[in-house]
Amino acid sequence: MSQISDLVASRLRDIPDFPKPGVLFKDFTPLIADGPALRELVRDIAQRYAGSVDVVVGIEARGFILGAAVAYELGLGMVPVRKAGKLPGETLKESYALEYGTAEIEVHTDAFEPGQRVLVIDDVLATGGTAEATALLVERAGAQVAAIEVVLELGFLDGRSRLGDRPVNAILTV
Ligand code: PRP
Repeated sequence: MSQISDLVASRLRDIPDFPKPGVLFKDFTPLIADGPALRELVRDIAQRYAGSVDVVVGIEARGFILGAAVAYELGLGMVPVRKAGKLPGETLKESYALEYGTAEIEVHTDAFEPGQRVLVIDDVLATGGTAEATALLVERAGAQVAAIEVVLELGFLDGRSRLGDRPVNAILTV
């Protein structure tokens, strides 16, 4: 493992039975509460994409924290992808399946300039439903997904397979 993946691994906390029995939640609040670790993480992500992306998308909610920090580090803007009903302007919407039921996320219709190269950031890639829906929103809004960056990938759920040939980078895969 690299230094940054070691650092991430050491700062993630396992919370059993959250948000429901049987789920082992990977809590990244200790990681972002550690100032030097947060800075190292943000700089690691930013250096990977400097000069090759035009805008950053952060996925609600934890993707907002990292997305805004990485965008700031790169001197770029940050676009939020939000749960349905939260964005005030005209939106595009995508639905995706959850274990029980469906979820909907949105982006502002005018969030991107045509053809902009978008870096999508989130904390976790699990089944890939959220990232896939986000990629579809970006593309429907006229931009292109340059890369999808996550802190943690749950490899056994094979979320990557839903993302086609869009580049995916995970700092840590378990
Ligand atoms: C979590 C996580 C990702 C998503 C990954 O968010 O932050 O966005 O699930 O799961 P998937 O790959 O199976 O789609 P959650 O839906 O819990 O929303 P929250 O961040 O608003 O709590």
